[in-house]
Amino acid sequence: MRAPTRLKAAIVAAVRRLSPIKGTQTPIAHKSLMMSFAPPDAAAEPLFALRGVCKTYGQGETAVRALVDVDLDITKGELMVLLGPSGSGKSTLLNILGGLDRATSGQVRFEGELLTALSEHALTLFRRRHVGFIFQFYNLIPSLTARENVELVGEIADDPLSAVEALELVGLGKRIDHFPSQLSGGEQQRVAVARAIAKRPAVLLCDEPTGALDVKTGVRVLEALQEVNERYGSTTMIVTHNADVARMAQRVVRFGDGHVRSVEVNTERVPPSELVW
Ligand SMILES: Nc1ncnc2c1ncn2[C@@H]1O[C@H](COP(=O)(O)OP(=O)(O)OP(=O)(O)O)[C@@H](O)[C@H]1O
Ligand SMILES: [Mg+2]
Repeated sequence: MRAPTRLKAAIVAAVRRLSPIKGTQTPIAHKSLMMSFAPPDAAAEPLFALRGVCKTYGQGETAVRALVDVDLDITKGELMVLLGPSGSGKSTLLNILGGLDRATSGQVRFEGELLTALSEHALTLFRRRHVGFIFQFYNLIPSLTARENVELVGEIADDPLSAVEALELVGLGKRIDHFPSQLSGGEQQRVAVARAIAKRPAVLLCDEPTGALDVKTGVRVLEALQEVNERYGSTTMIVTHNADVARMAQRVVRFGDGHVRSVEVNTERVPPSELVW
């Protein structure tokens, strides 16, 4: 995977511009948490480091605390599954990691740089260059073919895969000229996976990617995600309501009421084909 050097330069410049007084950034604390949350083989600096991250929607009596004091390290290249009841903060976390939303307080670092201090413009660049999103309902453009849906990404990424390469990777090499309405739900979702991976993102954020699919098609989608994770080293976060999907992850994070309740390392991972729900 290519190093996000340009992002780093943009982030460093943005942080310098925005820091009110140089040298006042709070250093990363909670070393003990970093240790306890890191998988055994994680020697390197985490890709994301979250410290005391809170997200509150609204104000006063109607305020909703979607995330409360979240401390979490996400290791480069890992495949992580996020579980938790409806409303526990899973999508909020993904949106903050992907730069679609901002934390109310706390720090989010990406490769050591403070995302929470970026301007809107720098955050948009971060998202475009380094983040692939996959949602429950595909979000494909109906009037464009599979190939054209994926090609859209090529216009905003620096060094994209070709649409054909990306579609072949998810097993849709023979369906490139089909429109979304001519594809099954699982195939449409795999086009969405191809679109997300075409820019070879450092981060792949998947919000209930199998939520609308039956088991068989869901498994194909999960296999495609795992393939991308392994081939390109894209750090992959999968939010799901299917507890069994957690068995394919390296680590499993459980949310409850906006808190991280637990982070577990899977000692034995199970391939998607062995999952059921
Ligand atoms: N834009 C918003 N305005 C107000 N409250 C919001 C907003 N987005 C989310 N929330 C609230 O924040 C909390 C966390 O929402 P979030 O979408 O992160 O939950 P989730 O774990 O993804 O749930 P689900 O499994 O149902 O998708 C919920 O109580 C939700 O109602
Ligand atoms: Mg959600």
